Amino acid sequence: MERKFTILIADDDPDIFPLIRDILAEGDYRLLSAGSGEEALGVMDRDPVDMLLVDYQMPGMDGLDLLLATRKRHRDVKVCMITGYGSVDVAINALQAGAVDFFQKPFSVPALTARVAHHKRLWDLARENLLLKKQAGVFLTLSDMVGNSRPMRRLKNLLERAAASDANVLIKGETGTGKEIAARCIHSLSARSAMPFVAVDCASLSETILESELFGHEKGAFTQAHTAHVGLARAADGGTLFLDETGEMPPALQSKFLRFLQTREVRPVGSAKSYPVNIRVVCATNRDLAQEVEEGRFRRDLYYRLHVVPVATPPLRECREDIALLASHFVHRYCVRNAVEKKLAKETILCLERHSWPGNVRELENAVHRAAVLSDGPQILPGDLPSEILCGAAQPAAHPPDEGLEKPAGDSMEDYERAAIMNALKKSSGNRNRAAEILGIGPATLYRKLQKYGLH
Ligand SMILES: Nc1ncnc2c1ncn2[C@@H]1O[C@H](COP(=O)(O)OP(=O)(O)OP(=O)(O)O)[C@@H](O)[C@H]1O
Ligand SMILES: [Mg+2]
Repeated sequence: MERKFTILIADDDPDIFPLIRDILAEGDYRLLSAGSGEEALGVMDRDPVDMLLVDYQMPGMDGLDLLLATRKRHRDVKVCMITGYGSVDVAINALQAGAVDFFQKPFSVPALTARVAHHKRLWDLARENLLLKKQAGVFLTLSDMVGNSRPMRRLKNLLERAAASDANVLIKGETGTGKEIAARCIHSLSARSAMPFVAVDCASLSETILESELFGHEKGAFTQAHTAHVGLARAADGGTLFLDETGEMPPALQSKFLRFLQTREVRPVGSAKSYPVNIRVVCATNRDLAQEVEEGRFRRDLYYRLHVVPVATPPLRECREDIALLASHFVHRYCVRNAVEKKLAKETILCLERHSWPGNVRELENAVHRAAVLSDGPQILPGDLPSEILCGAAQPAAHPPDEGLEKPAGDSMEDYERAAIMNALKKSSGNRNRAAEILGIGPATLYRKLQKYGLH
């Protein structure tokens, strides 16, 4: 059933709830009431609430206290303050403390109905946005992290627990092990999921550019600053800032980032003003940051602030039982995108399972993708795999896999295919039928490819 926009009215005056209920009767809302601040918190703990209309003056927990407690415990609830007529200071206080709107008593019926309808429209848009993100694949769930091996199950469990907290997370792992996917999962599963996920790559930018990318700059702050830039930290406000390759952050910026984490305020380059920002930081690194700290390249205090929840993404060689699952997942994705039907042959899966995958899941993804492109028929055969994978799998362990074998001349698929064919011919001592068998393709296909590469 479609969830209705739910408004909780917290007022100690018992006449207010029926009054607002009558005013809002035309709208498609679900209305709840609470007679005190404490009761309102209890309702929000039990029931999903989207908007809180709260009277500023209540005995016990007053409106401002309830507003602050709600901002902490139920971040998604939009709070509107109800104030007495003419109490502008109170309204300003409430807005500064995070209220989205205020209404003065006695209520103006058109103003109250129009403003509440406006907030409901914003809520509808946020939900629609979330749905679209899900459909576009930006929003990830744990099922997008393919793998059922023990290390992957442990990782998913940890990601779920990390998402439930609001603590900073440091993801460590070798290249291509899915650190970015893990960061996106944490965001998508967290209470911040409707807000932005913003990624910054610390390795790709110089120190000054990185600072202005992160914290923004004023117009004219430096030569190229023709316009003001809000900065990625503020762009992520309410959501998650993903700092990729954190170990590459230049030392001067490490100090500035630490200050930002301590004060939760950003000061754009060239600005005298600071702006409050509410973000969770998820970092990723393939360096051993603890070692970097020991060697004086990374600030210890910053390391401790970022390292609140440590998460490690396992290398693929420790999740061998996931290789077949991952490979089929990538083939399936390729087929859907290209409207074709292809499957991995059993022998191809065996080859994939024997490889050591130094480049982890990314290497597997690329290898499978390339093989899907190269394969002629509906079956993806071992011969369609890059030669280093095929050779590594075919060689007895006692021999280095590439001893005496051809290396691809370049990085194109044709280079790999050409090298794979030459190696198969070497291993079969020139016997084409045997070479075709090694490559897992038919003799006629091999013949065509030999002609194509001028190897006949
Ligand atoms: N468990 C997984 N399930 C599905 N796809 C995965 C998984 N792990 C990684 N991938 C895919 O592998 C590729 C690499 O993943 P990702 O970019 O998250 O790795 P990374 O650890 O950030 O790598 P790097 O250190 O090189 O930046 C991506 O295309 C991602 O979609
Ligand atoms: Mg990455």
